[in-house]
Amino acid sequence: MSWRTKPKVAWLREQAGVTEDEPLASRTSFGIGGPADFFVEIGRAQAIEKLIEGCREREIPYLLLGAGTNLLIADRGVEGVVIRVVNREHEVEGTRVKAGAGLKMMRLARIVADAGLRGFEFAIGVPGTVGGAVYQNAGCWGKELSEVLVEVAGYVPGSGATVWKPSELKLGYRTSALREGALKGALVVSATLQLDRGDGEVAKQLMAKLTRERGETQPIKTKNCGSVFKNPPGDSAGRLVQAAGLKGLRQGAAVVSPLHGNFIVNDGGATAKDVKRLIERIQAEVRRRFGAQLETEVELVGRWT
Ligand code: EPU
Repeated sequence: MSWRTKPKVAWLREQAGVTEDEPLASRTSFGIGGPADFFVEIGRAQAIEKLIEGCREREIPYLLLGAGTNLLIADRGVEGVVIRVVNREHEVEGTRVKAGAGLKMMRLARIVADAGLRGFEFAIGVPGTVGGAVYQNAGCWGKELSEVLVEVAGYVPGSGATVWKPSELKLGYRTSALREGALKGALVVSATLQLDRGDGEVAKQLMAKLTRERGETQPIKTKNCGSVFKNPPGDSAGRLVQAAGLKGLRQGAAVVSPLHGNFIVNDGGATAKDVKRLIERIQAEVRRRFGAQLETEVELVGRWT
């Protein structure tokens, strides 16, 4: 049964800043996906908490959106309300930094380098927000957020504001209890990181070098969702896709990047259906050739059926 009753729609329409049938494609790094039934962008944590509590009470589906990376939104859009989390405040105290969930990881990497802190350089290769990085324990160059994370302030609808220790978040390789466990639907408000005192200029030089290298191996100037697949244990999804001869494979306007096999590029007007079909073709061929099962890192959301 649909959630869409008159009183629920009326309640959503009363909420500040809410729009209807809002296009989402431009709010994703892929540039793909249909509209949100309802959409709102909120920077104040308390306002987000109030809204998701109201949704829970009314059984209205909601989706928390950050920078829209690592996401494939269905062509038929997203049911209920999409809440874009844009709280971007940050506070450096000694070697600790507390950052709002809506702050971009790359921006935070520069902020902490400016503050003379080290140990967060890897974040210059992570395209999403702090909230998204907690949600899937984002990482790059062999480092993950979990290695610097001290605590996370959050909100669990039905139970209230809370502070999680990293162990409570069950952080794994590109996953957490927020993505796949008991905390699904909970909000990340901010994350506190423990870094090291050091030379910020050296950090910036390292980040510049890492960015250059990333530009040589990944199609960073294209519309994409980051890595499509998780690396299978002890192997690399990109290597497997290349070995299966699938670089350049096309489905509509979705193409396997000729530069890196674990990227699918929106070549202009690709649909979510194109990308999903291409993912399935890659999985089938890699399974047939090497017996390896590629699991998606990108998250498929919205109305797929
Ligand atoms: N390789 C190929 N062909 C390809 C791509 C890669 O043979 O088309 C080989 C490389 O030569 C290398 C190995 O595969 O020997 C690993 O490749 P790479 O160093 O590019 O790293 P990756 O394992 O493909 C991971 C993360 C990236 C992160 C990079 C850099 C995953 C799924 N991906 O990629 O993260 O940027 O390391 O450290 O863990 C992301 O998560 O969205 C992401 C981009």
